[in-house]
Amino acid sequence: MTPWWHEAVVYQIYPRSFLDTNGDGVGDLNGITAKLDYLEWLGVDCLWLTPIYPSPMADFSYDVANYTDVEPLFGDLAIFDHLLAAAHGRGMKVILDWVPNHTSSHHPWFVDAVSSPSSAFRDFYIWKKGGADGTPPNNWVRAWVDAPAWTYDDTSGEWYLHCFLAEQPDLNWANPAVRTAMAETLRFWLDRGVDGFRMDVIHLLGKDPAFADDDEELKGLGHVVLNNRPETHPYLREIREVVKHYDGDPLIVGEVYLLDPAAVAEHYGNGDELDLAFNFQPLFTPWRAPAWKDAITAAYATHDPRHAWPTWVLNNHDASRVVSRLKSIERAKVAAVLLCTLRGTPFLYQGEELGLENAVLGDGEVIDPGFRDGARAPVPWGSGPGHGWPVAPWMTFPPNAATTNVEVERGEPTSMLTLYRDLIGVRKESTALRRGSFSWVDAPSELLVYRRSEGNDVRLIVCNFSHDSVGFSVDGRLDFATGRDHHEGFDGIVRGDEALIFSIPA
Ligand code: GLC
Ligand code: CA
Repeated sequence: MTPWWHEAVVYQIYPRSFLDTNGDGVGDLNGITAKLDYLEWLGVDCLWLTPIYPSPMADFSYDVANYTDVEPLFGDLAIFDHLLAAAHGRGMKVILDWVPNHTSSHHPWFVDAVSSPSSAFRDFYIWKKGGADGTPPNNWVRAWVDAPAWTYDDTSGEWYLHCFLAEQPDLNWANPAVRTAMAETLRFWLDRGVDGFRMDVIHLLGKDPAFADDDEELKGLGHVVLNNRPETHPYLREIREVVKHYDGDPLIVGEVYLLDPAAVAEHYGNGDELDLAFNFQPLFTPWRAPAWKDAITAAYATHDPRHAWPTWVLNNHDASRVVSRLKSIERAKVAAVLLCTLRGTPFLYQGEELGLENAVLGDGEVIDPGFRDGARAPVPWGSGPGHGWPVAPWMTFPPNAATTNVEVERGEPTSMLTLYRDLIGVRKESTALRRGSFSWVDAPSELLVYRRSEGNDVRLIVCNFSHDSVGFSVDGRLDFATGRDHHEGFDGIVRGDEALIFSIPA
């Protein structure tokens, strides 16, 4: 049986910017419940909520102060249960974002740990002596800025590790008590009925027991992207055991932020670690057909087809939005076709279906300590001045919100929203697109052409990466096109910046 998460379209929600319902300017869980009709209409199967836990918000809830409750800004447990039941009532799954590498410095474990070296929770975190000259224990650099991943604690004269902010101390996964406590947090949500977890920087759990320096040449990249350790794999197997004990095949999809696709793929284990790992290559691949061909080929080559199902991502809350990256809505439409027709599970990020661009913040307006505000702007639901939000939201709307919004785009045949809904519809009707085999088809160098096939269902996907028309003959029926109404048919010319999906004879 194919697992549900092979065929699902997953939709990432950043609750803070989705929809506010109580007039405090911050999106909330009731805002998600209010838009389930919309999400059902769009056709997505699974919602991934970025962290909803109580948090001082140093990193917008990726600094968790309590793993088993809901941040009051977002709602409470009863409101969450209501959202979950309402989503399930529509056949949609819900997965939560689990943040196991670090807690908030306000988490009671850390508050206790920092109070004294003899705290029962001291060993929940990673403490080391520094150099006699006042230097940190090693040269690891934290995320986002060139600063040590260690903070000095005056009381004990020791340093604690934080691969992100000082407000996000790393948990010590080598301590079995940490693993037991964190397993409990998974059970808490699984008992409430969630359908799985997106696991934050999951490759960071295992640390080098020697805490050796990072390579001088590479250390500036930050320790997060360099930490690839064998110690992580047994932890992943333990986590999997906890989750898979539950019915319904809960999904575990990991953020494995390593630069080498082969290193990422290792976190699937032998089918006994992660179900899925994000493949971020498309976020960094230049918009040229040969570059994408290489990236796609590398992704498939590194995924052992027996147990490692690929994933595709064009956007998330950490990256520049695809329309801004490609500087073209037409190219973003071609990218959308790739996302939904490559072999693997597509992950969409809220607003991607509208073709949102990055929000533009002025000097002094930067909010995020990781400089990622652009992709985190509120979703414009309507064309009026408030764009469907009851009061001005916590940050500025994306550009062109008067026209790039749900209300306008729903009625517009050539909008990104219409395109995404139709594309998801084509995928839903095609076993070839959802789970069929993949093979390249020879084509001129501006085009990427591939075949997906399952039984009698055979589809040919043709993507033009150039602005110019390219001749290409196809014996088949045009099902879908980004640049034209597919009822127009196909005349052997792929227009510039256009993607086409055909049904072809088996
Ligand atoms: C992941 C999240 C990011 C967060 C970081 C620390 O990369 O996607 O938003 O800041 O982990 O938790
Ligand atoms: Ca609110």
